[in-house]
Amino acid sequence: MAEDLSISKGSKQEQYETLIPQIEGLLTGEDDLVANMANVAAALKEQFDWLWVGFYVVKHDELVLGPFQGPVACTRIRKGRGVCGLSWSEAKTLIVPDVEKFPGHIACSSSSRSEVVVPVIINNEVVAVLDVDSQHLNYFDETDQQFLERIVSLVNFNS
Ligand code: SME
Repeated sequence: MAEDLSISKGSKQEQYETLIPQIEGLLTGEDDLVANMANVAAALKEQFDWLWVGFYVVKHDELVLGPFQGPVACTRIRKGRGVCGLSWSEAKTLIVPDVEKFPGHIACSSSSRSEVVVPVIINNEVVAVLDVDSQHLNYFDETDQQFLERIVSLVNFNS
Protein backbone atom coordinates (compact mmCIF):
# COMPACT_ATOMS: atom_id res chain seq x y z
CA MET A 1 0.00 0.00 0.00
CA ALA A 2 1.32 3.44 -0.91
CA GLU A 3 1.71 5.52 2.23
CA ASP A 4 1.39 8.91 0.53
CA LEU A 5 -1.84 10.21 -0.93
CA SER A 6 -1.81 11.72 -4.38
CA ILE A 7 -3.56 15.05 -3.87
CA SER A 8 -5.70 16.39 -6.72
CA LYS A 9 -5.99 20.13 -7.39
CA GLY A 10 -8.88 19.80 -9.84
CA SER A 11 -12.61 20.43 -9.47
CA LYS A 12 -14.41 19.06 -6.44
CA GLN A 13 -15.60 16.12 -8.53
CA GLU A 14 -12.07 15.44 -9.81
CA GLN A 15 -10.76 15.59 -6.26
CA TYR A 16 -13.25 12.95 -5.12
CA GLU A 17 -12.60 10.83 -8.21
CA THR A 18 -8.86 10.85 -7.53
CA LEU A 19 -9.36 10.14 -3.86
CA ILE A 20 -11.86 7.26 -4.00
CA PRO A 21 -9.55 4.62 -5.53
CA GLN A 22 -6.93 5.58 -2.98
CA ILE A 23 -9.44 5.14 -0.16
CA GLU A 24 -10.34 1.75 -1.63
CA GLY A 25 -6.63 0.90 -1.53
CA LEU A 26 -6.35 1.99 2.10
CA LEU A 27 -9.31 -0.19 3.06
CA THR A 28 -8.27 -3.28 1.12
CA GLY A 29 -7.10 -6.12 3.34
CA GLU A 30 -7.87 -4.32 6.61
CA ASP A 31 -10.91 -5.38 8.61
CA ASP A 32 -10.43 -3.26 11.72
CA LEU A 33 -13.24 -0.70 11.75
CA VAL A 34 -11.47 1.93 13.87
CA ALA A 35 -8.38 1.75 11.65
CA ASN A 36 -10.51 2.13 8.53
CA MET A 37 -12.58 5.03 9.87
CA ALA A 38 -9.33 6.72 10.95
CA ASN A 39 -7.77 6.44 7.50
CA VAL A 40 -10.94 7.62 5.73
CA ALA A 41 -11.08 10.70 7.97
CA ALA A 42 -7.36 11.37 7.43
CA ALA A 43 -7.59 10.94 3.65
CA LEU A 44 -10.55 13.33 3.41
CA LYS A 45 -8.84 15.90 5.64
CA GLU A 46 -5.63 15.70 3.62
CA GLN A 47 -7.40 16.13 0.27
CA PHE A 48 -9.93 18.80 1.22
CA ASP A 49 -8.48 20.46 4.33
CA TRP A 50 -11.93 20.89 5.84
CA LEU A 51 -12.18 22.25 9.39
CA TRP A 52 -13.33 18.93 10.83
CA VAL A 53 -14.13 15.51 9.44
CA GLY A 54 -14.89 12.38 11.37
CA PHE A 55 -17.25 9.68 12.50
CA TYR A 56 -19.75 9.37 15.31
CA VAL A 57 -20.72 5.77 16.06
CA VAL A 58 -24.13 4.66 17.40
CA LYS A 59 -23.65 3.10 20.84
CA HIS A 60 -26.86 2.27 22.70
CA ASP A 61 -28.98 5.42 22.55
CA GLU A 62 -26.24 7.90 21.64
CA LEU A 63 -23.73 8.84 19.00
CA VAL A 64 -20.22 8.56 20.42
CA LEU A 65 -17.22 10.34 18.93
CA GLY A 66 -15.09 8.09 16.73
CA PRO A 67 -11.97 8.66 14.61
CA PHE A 68 -11.73 12.24 13.35
CA GLN A 69 -9.39 14.95 12.12
CA GLY A 70 -9.68 18.51 13.37
CA PRO A 71 -10.28 20.37 16.62
CA VAL A 72 -11.48 18.50 19.71
CA ALA A 73 -15.22 17.79 19.57
CA CYS A 74 -18.17 16.91 21.78
CA THR A 75 -18.10 13.21 22.61
CA ARG A 76 -21.79 12.26 22.84
CA ILE A 77 -24.87 13.34 20.87
CA ARG A 78 -28.43 12.18 21.58
CA LYS A 79 -30.71 10.89 18.85
CA GLY A 80 -32.48 13.79 17.14
CA ARG A 81 -30.09 16.39 18.56
CA GLY A 82 -27.99 18.65 16.38
CA VAL A 83 -27.28 17.91 12.74
CA CYS A 84 -25.69 14.54 13.53
CA GLY A 85 -28.52 13.35 15.75
CA LEU A 86 -31.13 14.45 13.19
CA SER A 87 -29.27 12.68 10.36
CA TRP A 88 -29.39 9.57 12.57
CA SER A 89 -33.08 9.82 13.43
CA GLU A 90 -34.11 10.65 9.85
CA ALA A 91 -31.58 8.23 8.29
CA LYS A 92 -30.71 10.73 5.61
CA THR A 93 -27.91 13.04 4.56
CA LEU A 94 -28.29 16.62 5.77
CA ILE A 95 -26.58 19.58 4.11
CA VAL A 96 -26.53 22.69 6.31
CA PRO A 97 -25.42 25.82 4.38
CA ASP A 98 -25.36 28.03 7.50
CA VAL A 99 -25.08 26.33 10.88
CA GLU A 100 -26.34 29.45 12.69
CA LYS A 101 -29.68 29.03 10.93
CA PHE A 102 -30.02 25.36 11.91
CA PRO A 103 -32.17 25.10 15.06
CA GLY A 104 -30.36 23.01 17.66
CA HIS A 105 -27.01 22.96 15.90
CA ILE A 106 -24.32 21.73 18.30
CA ALA A 107 -21.33 24.05 17.99
CA CYS A 108 -18.25 21.98 18.70
CA SER A 109 -16.09 24.65 17.09
CA SER A 110 -16.93 28.35 16.84
CA SER A 111 -15.16 28.36 13.45
CA SER A 112 -17.70 26.03 11.84
CA ARG A 113 -19.99 27.78 9.32
CA SER A 114 -21.49 24.96 7.23
CA GLU A 115 -21.82 21.22 7.59
CA VAL A 116 -22.81 17.96 5.92
CA VAL A 117 -23.69 14.78 7.78
CA VAL A 118 -24.01 11.40 6.03
CA PRO A 119 -25.58 8.43 7.83
CA VAL A 120 -24.05 4.96 7.54
CA ILE A 121 -26.98 2.59 7.05
CA ILE A 122 -26.58 -1.17 7.48
CA ASN A 123 -29.64 -3.47 7.27
CA ASN A 124 -31.93 -0.44 7.45
CA GLU A 125 -30.31 0.83 10.64
CA VAL A 126 -28.04 3.82 11.11
CA VAL A 127 -24.85 2.54 12.75
CA ALA A 128 -22.73 5.70 12.45
CA VAL A 129 -22.58 9.10 10.78
CA LEU A 130 -19.82 10.87 8.89
CA ASP A 131 -19.75 14.54 9.87
CA VAL A 132 -17.90 17.24 7.93
CA ASP A 133 -17.58 20.89 8.97
CA SER A 134 -16.28 23.83 6.97
CA GLN A 135 -15.14 27.24 8.12
CA HIS A 136 -16.87 28.63 5.01
CA LEU A 137 -20.58 29.31 4.56
CA ASN A 138 -22.54 27.27 2.03
CA TYR A 139 -19.63 24.95 1.28
CA PHE A 140 -21.29 21.57 0.69
CA ASP A 141 -23.59 20.51 -2.13
CA GLU A 142 -25.02 17.46 -3.86
CA THR A 143 -21.57 16.55 -5.24
CA ASP A 144 -20.30 16.15 -1.68
CA GLN A 145 -23.42 14.21 -0.75
CA GLN A 146 -23.06 11.83 -3.68
CA PHE A 147 -19.36 11.12 -3.13
CA LEU A 148 -19.44 11.03 0.67
CA GLU A 149 -22.33 8.55 0.57
CA ARG A 150 -20.21 6.44 -1.78
CA ILE A 151 -17.17 6.72 0.48
CA VAL A 152 -19.01 5.58 3.62
CA SER A 153 -20.40 2.63 1.64
CA LEU A 154 -16.82 1.47 1.05
CA VAL A 155 -16.17 0.98 4.76
CA ASN A 156 -17.18 -2.42 6.15
CA PHE A 157 -19.13 -1.49 9.28
CA ASN A 158 -19.90 -5.16 9.96
CA SER A 159 -16.28 -5.85 10.89
N1 SME B 1 -22.23 20.19 14.69
C1 SME B 1 -22.60 18.83 14.99
C2 SME B 1 -21.86 18.33 16.20
C3 SME B 1 -20.60 17.64 15.91
S1 SME B 1 -19.33 18.69 15.57
O1 SME B 1 -19.65 19.55 14.44
C4 SME B 1 -17.90 17.86 15.28
C5 SME B 1 -24.09 18.72 15.19
O2 SME B 1 -24.81 19.74 15.24
O3 SME B 1 -24.57 17.60 15.30
